[in-house]
Amino acid sequence: DWTMAAFRDEAIAKVRAQVGDGRVICGLSGGVDSSVVAVLLHEAIGEQLTCIFVDHGLMRLNEAEEVVGLFRDHYNIPLVHVDAADTFIDALTGESDPETKRKTIGRLFIEVFEEEAKKIGGADFLAQGTLYPDVIESVSFTGGPSVTIKSHHNVGGLPERMNMKLVEPLRELFKDEVRALGRELGLPEAFVGRHPFPGPGLAIRCPGGVSREKLDILRQADAIYLDEIRKAGLYDAIWQAFAVLLPVQTVGVMGDGRTYEFVCGLRAVTSVDGMTADFFHFDMEFLGRVSARIVNEVRGINRVVYDVTSKPPGTIEWE
Ligand code: XMP
Repeated sequence: DWTMAAFRDEAIAKVRAQVGDGRVICGLSGGVDSSVVAVLLHEAIGEQLTCIFVDHGLMRLNEAEEVVGLFRDHYNIPLVHVDAADTFIDALTGESDPETKRKTIGRLFIEVFEEEAKKIGGADFLAQGTLYPDVIESVSFTGGPSVTIKSHHNVGGLPERMNMKLVEPLRELFKDEVRALGRELGLPEAFVGRHPFPGPGLAIRCPGGVSREKLDILRQADAIYLDEIRKAGLYDAIWQAFAVLLPVQTVGVMGDGRTYEFVCGLRAVTSVDGMTADFFHFDMEFLGRVSARIVNEVRGINRVVYDVTSKPPGTIEWE
């Protein structure tokens, strides 16, 4: 008779047995997997756990604050919040190749993480949110890096470099089971039900090159889109939804004037595992409402388009 409560107790016992009185570091990203690992470990070993949140400045609007607020202020988990936005954005400036962006972000992530881990005196263990599908198959993202660095949050190579052993309490679970475990651990629904978000964040949603200004424009449009999706009660029916800021300016008209601003692409898909996906069928009234709000409220965007490509042949992300 298998229940999530029993799994939780067993997982906690296993972690305690593995870790003893050793110190553990956990890289927190704000995603479901690392959040569940952090809360589970905190329950298992309390203050022996320190979380490191590398804020690369490529998160959605207010997300960094939400992550820090939940884990540090609500759960009282020792958490190092590294504001590394300048490091990442400076390194990305002028770079428009999607793979180079990913590699740059992955490399910097490891460097920053390693430095912070040293600052707190290192640890014996590194906790990771590896899931069962990561263990059994090599998922490689279309045009993206291979599994070992599926995302830079799976800090590949770090454990060996830093001489740390791995703690991977989710190794036997599928995504929906991780969500169930998160609920069992009392994680807020807003975290447990969160759409997947790529490790390289908004950098791969700014095709053609990243800048602070573009990221700022994108964040605002994305927040409006997600706000309307939530208000319409559609969030849970969608696998992933996000805005993309295209490196194209088009002519528009506002009041008496001509505008020449960026185009915003909107994407929403349904999927089971991210490997295939269908574009989400919004009604046109909804899309019109989102478009009007974005163009009216976000300076820098004067046109909105909706992506009606499924995967394959498209990918979910635009790069
Ligand atoms: P694609 O665009 O390949 O995306 O259809 C499939 C899923 O993978 C996510 N994705 C990434 N996640 N690092 C990540 O952690 C990446 O470099 C990356 N590229 C794509 C994407 O958001 C979708 O959920």
